[in-house]
Amino acid sequence: MAVRHVPDLRFVVNRQQEINASPAWARLHQHQRATRHMHMKELFEQDPERFSRFSVRLEGLLFDYSKNRVTDRTLELLFDLAEVAGLKDWMRKLRDGERINVSEGRAVLHTALRLPAGASCMLDKENVVPAVQNVLGRLETFSNAVRDGSWTGFTGKRITDVVNLGIGGSDLGPLVVAEALAPYMSPDLRIHFVSNVDGQQIARTLAGLNAETTLFIVASKSFATPETLLNATAARRWFLQFAAEEAIARHFVAVSTNEAAVREFGIDPENMFGFWDWVGGRYSVWSAIGLPVMLGIGFTAFREFLAGAHQLDEHFFSAPFERNIPVIMALLGVWYNTFYRAHTHAIMPYDHGLRRLPAYIQQLDMESNGKRVGRYGERLDFDTGPVIWGEEGVNSQHAFFQLLHQGTRLVPCDFIVPMNSHYPVADQHKVLVANCFAQTEALMRGKTESEVLRELKDVAGDRIDVLLPQKLFPGNQPSNTFALDRVTPRTLGMLMAAYEHKVFVQGVIWGINSFDQWGVEYGKQLASQILPELSGEASHAHDCSTSGLIRHFLETHHD
Ligand code: F6P
Repeated sequence: MAVRHVPDLRFVVNRQQEINASPAWARLHQHQRATRHMHMKELFEQDPERFSRFSVRLEGLLFDYSKNRVTDRTLELLFDLAEVAGLKDWMRKLRDGERINVSEGRAVLHTALRLPAGASCMLDKENVVPAVQNVLGRLETFSNAVRDGSWTGFTGKRITDVVNLGIGGSDLGPLVVAEALAPYMSPDLRIHFVSNVDGQQIARTLAGLNAETTLFIVASKSFATPETLLNATAARRWFLQFAAEEAIARHFVAVSTNEAAVREFGIDPENMFGFWDWVGGRYSVWSAIGLPVMLGIGFTAFREFLAGAHQLDEHFFSAPFERNIPVIMALLGVWYNTFYRAHTHAIMPYDHGLRRLPAYIQQLDMESNGKRVGRYGERLDFDTGPVIWGEEGVNSQHAFFQLLHQGTRLVPCDFIVPMNSHYPVADQHKVLVANCFAQTEALMRGKTESEVLRELKDVAGDRIDVLLPQKLFPGNQPSNTFALDRVTPRTLGMLMAAYEHKVFVQGVIWGINSFDQWGVEYGKQLASQILPELSGEASHAHDCSTSGLIRHFLETHHD
């Protein structure tokens, strides 16, 4: 029987107020005011050791945070804030399976998914690791069978195409990993992802497929997400044009925590791979939700992905704050968000395979920390989670970097770049890396008046007045650089786990429950009200814009 910890709300609310009313918080505000005109270029000029002092190396990964608007004092104050927020205790609670997702009364144990077999992680006096390993064992058997051709379709042919039907965390994680690890993918198996309820995605995907050789994974933690269930129903309808009902068992598997709903949908629980309520959707790629990746890259490589994340977990739980990558990432984010009031954070992977990583981190971060009240419902009167956005480099240089270099906003950026490519094409990888490094340098140092004037030495005087301000670069735009030795299952696991922990630490500092997502519910409720109205079967009171749009649909839509 689960023992629920009922917190004394008066105590915890005051505790959060203690953080933002603490001397550490006030000192950071004062420090920001005192240092906001400081230029990073000068910090680099004063300290040739800045890179080695402000970077952390782990096997396969270098994290350079030297190009940030921070001094030793800034970091000291940020670490003090982390102490005041009780970060060490929260890290222990996370690791030890306390029910830190208070609004849903759940533990948050995605780290247990990547523990090695034989490790222990207790939840309500029970070690969860054997259950995790048991599901992994079933996934290994299943994925090996599909890959080696012993699991066949209803006509005895091997599976050539896998379609993952899921959305949000049941889509983005495996999608990003499958794309990033494309060089490890079996050439015999194509992996497709369908998430959108817009029929064109499923229709276009199915158009190129053969029912005899296609495997569908219906991936939904709740097994109640309409988008996914509609796509799964469409896939089944399509499949049954070519095969009999009995064939479903060889072509549809489910990944879910909801066995009853899986059964009701018509998928045999024998073909279901489970996970647990203590795995948040956006933290679930390490669970059975990773099945498309296991099928694509093989189970051994998937274990490496888990091992990379575990390595980062160990680093997070044991390294001192001063050398702790996720803690530093998080505190720098707090510095800009809360104290500089920077509203956004950009993620730029200089790796084509990682091009969807910004979308993945967008869900991870914004669904976790896009909150305006604290863990216990208290109103927060400071800025919390930033808008996360980004695009692959170098394409983004030709799109939005203008604003980063010469716009009016402070935009902290993360650059992610592998030192080695899986695809050596002449010297192109060096060109890619040169661009990445150059952008971080340009954003940091800017271009001064005397440098521009030197460039304009042959230009007539009146033209100089016009051109000079336009060619100036203020610089001082902060960035972190993650240099991976190569994008491998291990380094990718490390990188993704680092972002998870960053989000957790920020949630702790801001006093947020990073593991619920009530904000996505309201729109879903209204959509289910509007749906019958679009068939003229109901009519509800709306504002005149929404009513007008519904009327317009009824006038212009033809079934
Ligand atoms: O958008 C809300 C959300 O609940 C996400 O948190 C989740 O990842 C996604 O929907 C999909 O949910 P499910 O896996 O239950 O279908």
